[in-house]
Amino acid sequence: MTDISIIGTGNMGQAIAALAGRGGHSVQLLGKADAATSATGDVVVLAVPYPALSELVSQRGADLAGKIVVDITNPVNFETFDSLTVPADSSATAEIAAALPDSRVLKAFNTTFASTLATGTVGDLTTAVQIAGDDADAKATLAEVVTSAGLRPIDAGALKRARELEALGFLQISLAAAEQVSWTGGFGVVA
Ligand SMILES: NC(=O)c1ccc[n+]([C@@H]2O[C@H](COP(=O)([O-])OP(=O)(O)OC[C@H]3O[C@@H](n4cnc5c(N)ncnc54)[C@H](OP(=O)(O)O)[C@@H]3O)[C@@H](O)[C@H]2O)c1
Repeated sequence: MTDISIIGTGNMGQAIAALAGRGGHSVQLLGKADAATSATGDVVVLAVPYPALSELVSQRGADLAGKIVVDITNPVNFETFDSLTVPADSSATAEIAAALPDSRVLKAFNTTFASTLATGTVGDLTTAVQIAGDDADAKATLAEVVTSAGLRPIDAGALKRARELEALGFLQISLAAAEQVSWTGGFGVVA
């Protein structure tokens, strides 16, 4: 069993909390009102919008040292809906990793809509959670959480791949906004 803290109680925070609960893990769900409460989990999921990340990370940096920190954000420019807000050779996850040198930072869950985490399927396929990061043990820990909930983890490679995952997440959101795919669908992966 893994102890998981989730910061952010919106669609994704609740979907990931339910997923972790299904897998038999302990879950601490922290909202804005819990800013003074320490995250006790070995894995801490930052389930907040990208613009909230930098303040959150600077407030909780010491709290996050030594932990696996999971960035799920899609840093889309929601004013133009035409680009990401991070430099083309970087990612939100790379920014967090630079700000949290004592944490093991992963990118995950950004290419799956919340509803597909809840149902465990994308169409006829098992929902695939792509995980990128530089620490193999951290990736294995999160992969086990995903597997225990009946979903399919995919090792997407090094932390540098977060930039491609963010591009994929952006494309999926664009397609859903343009009604080319549904918010309950999206990209599936066949092994
Ligand atoms: N929805 C999806 O299908 C999906 C899929 C992949 C990735 N994502 C990513 O997942 C993240 C969360 O998305 P969401 O759909 O769950 O958004 P959401 O429903 O709007 O939830 C975001 C939550 O974060 C909270 N929050 C903001 N700043 C916070 C802070 N400093 N401390 C604690 N909580 C804070 C918000 O509280 P308030 O409401 O009080 O502001 C809200 O409860 C985003 O980065 C998004 O890009 C979403």
